Amino acid sequence: MMTDIATLQTELMAAIDSADTLDALEAVRISALGKQGSVSALLKTMGAMSPDERQTQGPIINGLRESVTAALAAKKAALETAELNRRLASEYVDMTLPAPETPRGTVHPVSQVMDELAEIFADMGFAVAEGREIEDDWHNFTALNIPETHPARAMHDTFYFPDEMAREGSKMLLRTHTSPVQIRTMTSQEPPIRIIAPGRVYRSDSDATHTPMFHQIEGLVIDKGIHLGHLKWTLETFLKAYFEREDVVLRLRPSYFPFTEPSVEVDVGYSMVNGKRVIGGSEGWMEVLGSGMVHRKVIEACGLDPDIWQGFAFGTGVDRLAMLKYGMDDLRAFFDGDNRWLQHYGFDALDVPTLSGGVGA
Ligand code: DAH
Repeated sequence: MMTDIATLQTELMAAIDSADTLDALEAVRISALGKQGSVSALLKTMGAMSPDERQTQGPIINGLRESVTAALAAKKAALETAELNRRLASEYVDMTLPAPETPRGTVHPVSQVMDELAEIFADMGFAVAEGREIEDDWHNFTALNIPETHPARAMHDTFYFPDEMAREGSKMLLRTHTSPVQIRTMTSQEPPIRIIAPGRVYRSDSDATHTPMFHQIEGLVIDKGIHLGHLKWTLETFLKAYFEREDVVLRLRPSYFPFTEPSVEVDVGYSMVNGKRVIGGSEGWMEVLGSGMVHRKVIEACGLDPDIWQGFAFGTGVDRLAMLKYGMDDLRAFFDGDNRWLQHYGFDALDVPTLSGGVGA
């Protein structure tokens, strides 16, 4: 019996020693300690032993079980360590290799500029408002003091929907400017109001400097005691932050828009540097936006009392602002979807504009 146990122990130790995978080791464990295992069988014989026999055989059989269990655990740990080392050796990443070619999207300059403008105006307390691209005649024209017979309607080259689609007697159209957002904001929220409204606008017009769809941004402030000085300060602060130059000079020229009185067109000064126009200084002037004090009739059309509430509004082309800052010269390229153009003029998606980090590239 004792020699049998010694032989079994030698065999099992040899089997454990030569198991070279975790699966092989598990097979040895089952053959020894499993239900039908050789060591389990020996343990079972103890029940039928006389007390004397059990006293001598018990420790031997239990000793066998313990040494086999310990040998299995040691071998398992060794195999696992070996496996880990093998994987560490084969699965390493060579950090010195160049990164693989991966498709890289960019943020379109129009989106970038809109984000920059939102950031600049948020700092001055403006919220971003949204209107509708499919508008009605009343919001796009009438409420903005552009009545049916007004020549400005012809100037806007409007895309109208068929008459059958009119709503409440108002023809439907693609908005020709972001100014109707002024109306939607004043009729839906209580003053004081400070909003900007960036978005798409549509006009039936197409050449090198006009596309049927383009982008505008509208600004509106309605409060008590607002005057032209507030407008000028706001525009100056905005344009200095946008062009990231302290030497931005504005020139306000009297103009006419039906929805503002007085109306001003705003020019920004440029200097010639190596034959190119650069914003800053006042060697020449470029028109950048339209603005003015909101017309009494517009405030009235929105159900507010113009003797209590006054304000200013401004509107400008986002595409044009982008061209001026980032030096593109063909508007049509903005909407061609040409990947080479986007790779060149696009912005890194992680490069989010912030006032502290710089709103530009
Ligand atoms: N809506 C005008 C346009 O599309 C731009 C504009 C001019 C907007 C003056 C304004 C403004 O808010 O005050 O040409």
